[in-house]
Amino acid sequence: MRVIITPDYATLSVAAAKVVAELVRRKPTAVLGLATGSTPLGLYRELIRLHRDEGLDFRRVRSFNLDEYALPPDDPNSYRRYMHENLFRHINCPDGQWKVPEGHARDLDAAAHEYEEQLREAGGIDLQVLGIGRAGHIGFAEPGSSLAGRTAVVALHPTTRADAAAAGHFPNLDAVPTRAVTMGVGTILESRACLILASGKAKATIWAQFLEGPVTAQVTASALHLHPNVVAICDEDAASCLHDREQYRNAERVLADQPLLPTAI
Ligand code: PGA
Repeated sequence: MRVIITPDYATLSVAAAKVVAELVRRKPTAVLGLATGSTPLGLYRELIRLHRDEGLDFRRVRSFNLDEYALPPDDPNSYRRYMHENLFRHINCPDGQWKVPEGHARDLDAAAHEYEEQLREAGGIDLQVLGIGRAGHIGFAEPGSSLAGRTAVVALHPTTRADAAAAGHFPNLDAVPTRAVTMGVGTILESRACLILASGKAKATIWAQFLEGPVTAQVTASALHLHPNVVAICDEDAASCLHDREQYRNAERVLADQPLLPTAI
């Protein structure tokens, strides 16, 4: 795993966008896996800037989002709406090429199964962007989820719901859905590469557990240690509980000329 510590959120966002943009330039038909939440907002802003100022072309890119609340797609808090507002209405990826799991289908299980099928038909994800929740989740694969899990309906962890309410997206805790549809850890591990991001002091403890603790279903992000191509980028605040900070910095100095993503993608 490549671990990159940046001075602040702005630098993290630019570094993450560089990874995504380099892939899209090299492979214009890339299949991206995308994440929501506050962490990737800076990454999306930078991708929009690269599209506008440098012609970064998303015309043939396809994407699959990690997860969706059990909400109608036009709900202001749906992740479909988030992706439209924060990325897709600003770039040239045609509607229909970017997908978010259905959170409001009559048969959510069948819709989740269908999502996996669509993913397979697209040839799988080249690069999966991830945040990490304070409960250690990737997507909404909450503590105790199967590390081989596929896209499914899940119950949100109380910490996850509390954080969603605290972020101000919902009027109060009761308004935060109790269920969501998410890719499983097994789905995520099949991506050809992963880019996981963390920013801020509130993530410092869980970021250290993820990077330096055991592989455990209690911190589903830790399953990324079983993946051969992971880039983990955090800012100084999120890095503040890491024991091995000097080695991560040293490794990045030594490996500065090595590509972050495998060139075979
Ligand atoms: P955040 O969420 O980016 O809003 O902190 C991350 C996550 O829950 O995966």
